[in-house]
Amino acid sequence: MNNTYFVGMPVSALPTPALVVDIEIMTRNMETMTNYLAKVNTKLRPHAKTHKTPAIGHLQMRAGAVGLCCATVGEAEVMVYAGIPEVMIANEIVDPVSLRRSVNLARQARVLMIVDDCENVKNLAAVARQYGVVVDVLADLDVGQGRCGCRSLEQLEQVAREVVNQKGLNLRGVFGYEGHLQFLPDREERSRKGREATGLLVRAAKELAGLGLNMEIVSGAGTGTYDIAAEFAEMTEIQAGSYIFMDGTYQKLGLPFQQSLTVMSTVVSRPKEDLAVFDVGIKGISPERFHPSLQGVASGCADVKSLSEEHAVANIAGGFDPKPGERYHFVPSHCCSTVNLYDRMFACRNGIVEAVWPIAARRA
Ligand SMILES: Cc1ncc(COP(=O)(O)O)c(C=O)c1O
Repeated sequence: MNNTYFVGMPVSALPTPALVVDIEIMTRNMETMTNYLAKVNTKLRPHAKTHKTPAIGHLQMRAGAVGLCCATVGEAEVMVYAGIPEVMIANEIVDPVSLRRSVNLARQARVLMIVDDCENVKNLAAVARQYGVVVDVLADLDVGQGRCGCRSLEQLEQVAREVVNQKGLNLRGVFGYEGHLQFLPDREERSRKGREATGLLVRAAKELAGLGLNMEIVSGAGTGTYDIAAEFAEMTEIQAGSYIFMDGTYQKLGLPFQQSLTVMSTVVSRPKEDLAVFDVGIKGISPERFHPSLQGVASGCADVKSLSEEHAVANIAGGFDPKPGERYHFVPSHCCSTVNLYDRMFACRNGIVEAVWPIAARRA
């Protein structure tokens, strides 16, 4: 159905399953992040993998973001073609077609790429020269996640120097994402390990700056570590993404952000007193990490015990009495992979649909 049809409708009248974002809560989350980072004088480059939605990317830019992070070339294309002036592609881009697509974006936006390999640097530079553009580059340091990224300072220096040697590339600094620490439930442990990880990145940036290499950007961190990383004055920007929506995983950390994103679902069957079936399954809510939970319903009263393609089956207890036809909001365990399941997001205020936002970078 045409998206405009839904504007002005009560959320409770939407067909289900429906991906719903509460604009006021999301806006408060953005303000909380912006205000905190303003106090510590660190910039925000929010990760667009969370929302994949240009309308939200533009709100983040208006709230002071220096640009957006993207996980893939496709996400970056969608954001640039929607008018976002600066994107970082926060993954190594190696295959020739993806390299050409990334570099091509530099014709109409500022593009920041990350690298951890000298051959890749040469290939990227060759495309940049061929296209007659300059691409900004960060050298990627592994700060403990054990995925991509240089494994030593020597390797990082070599890669950074290769960038400097290549016409068509502009070394701007270093990148290091401590993804392995984001969900550590114990604040003390997260802080300690986060300080170690960011310390590695910051020390590397200082060393390279001491060698005369440009280190104007030191970029990293996510929603679980934003304030730990930003304690370092040398950290110039934070890449958090999930803070705008939150999810079941991040809710466990006691962060100052509220849940703004839910999947509204209808009870379709109550075959037994202690069982309820909802019309959302893994096609409408990410099964990643753990089962979704029902917003506002106490733990133990409606625990989801299974998810199939179209259904969630929950054990009902504790006097909770959901009736067929009633609507409930599920909190996904992971917001980013849940957003990826939908073409559109219903943006709501006070229970009314205010806008329908195309999730244009879905599956991109
Ligand atoms: C490189 C990078 N930076 C930042 C983030 C943002 O993380 P979060 O959504 O946990 O804030 C991610 C998430 O996967 C990421 O891959």
